[in-house]
Amino acid sequence: MKPIADYSENQLTALLSQLKTQYKEAQAQKLKLNMARGKPAATQLNLSNGLLEKVENYTLADGTDARNYGILEGIPECRELFGRLLDIPPGQIIIGGNSSLNMMFDIISFLCLFGTGGSKPWLYHKYCNTPVKFLCPVPGYDRHFTICEELGIEMIPIPLGEDGPDMALVKKLVLEDKSVKGIWCVPLHSNPQGVCYSEEVVEQLASMETASKDFRIFWDNAYGIHHISKEVPLKNIIKECEKHGNPNRVYYFFSTSKISFPGAGVALVASGTENITELKKHMSAQTIGHDKLNQLRHVQFFKTPENILHHMKKMAGIEKILKNKTK
Ligand SMILES: Cc1ncc(COP(=O)(O)O)c(C=O)c1O
Repeated sequence: MKPIADYSENQLTALLSQLKTQYKEAQAQKLKLNMARGKPAATQLNLSNGLLEKVENYTLADGTDARNYGILEGIPECRELFGRLLDIPPGQIIIGGNSSLNMMFDIISFLCLFGTGGSKPWLYHKYCNTPVKFLCPVPGYDRHFTICEELGIEMIPIPLGEDGPDMALVKKLVLEDKSVKGIWCVPLHSNPQGVCYSEEVVEQLASMETASKDFRIFWDNAYGIHHISKEVPLKNIIKECEKHGNPNRVYYFFSTSKISFPGAGVALVASGTENITELKKHMSAQTIGHDKLNQLRHVQFFKTPENILHHMKKMAGIEKILKNKTK
């Protein structure tokens, strides 16, 4: 097909009228299609209905009454459960509210306002007419890009290959340009192609030399245990960053939005201990604590990491049935 840029004015007018007719025909069908992706079917949500039953016992193992204020970083039982699931020390995890995206927005806002590890706040650079830039593997998650747009962060598209972002380009840009402050990563089953990052890509992200010392990886492992056809291993980026002397390079996000209830699950961030201390300081001005009863409900419902993985197998079974039905 001829590129649109090569169309004459008459050809463009004809195309516009043809497309308008097609659009009207589609509108006339009055279809009520929900085009949102990432929404589980009701049969999948039913698997988590046990969460809607009452909390069995609201006294935590350390004697804290979960109905009351407190425990900014989330209840120890919940940090332990997800720590074991993701192989991250519970002390490096903060359980947030119902949304990991919310935590991503907050953390980038903190970096814009306060900076990190003694570096200047990112907004300082922006107001000194030095842009703040993020590497954005494409195709990527649109809401990551919306966060950048909202905060005035310049986005640099990076081609996403079969095993992750084009690392030669990533390494060149982070080394050459100190205004590159971050990269978005969806390391497993990234939409729409289902790209999973290889060991080498994770190692390079953790070890690469960066011009900016407050360069950060935003590791959105939203589909971290969502292996429908085959289990894909993922190198532990927290450990890898530590191993290469960059323990605070990564913010690792995870949530149960696509495990229990979307928008009514629990979200978390994990990072190096200095980042966690910094985050807790900012968070302590923001909230007294998140919903501990929901955290406790998740702990009492799932109990073990093995049960969470088993739950995902059941979800995947329904997914396969639904896919076959639509074929
Ligand atoms: C890659 C990715 N990250 C984050 C989210 C949002 O997760 P949460 O509900 O925890 O905010 C989604 C939701 O579709 C997603 O696809």
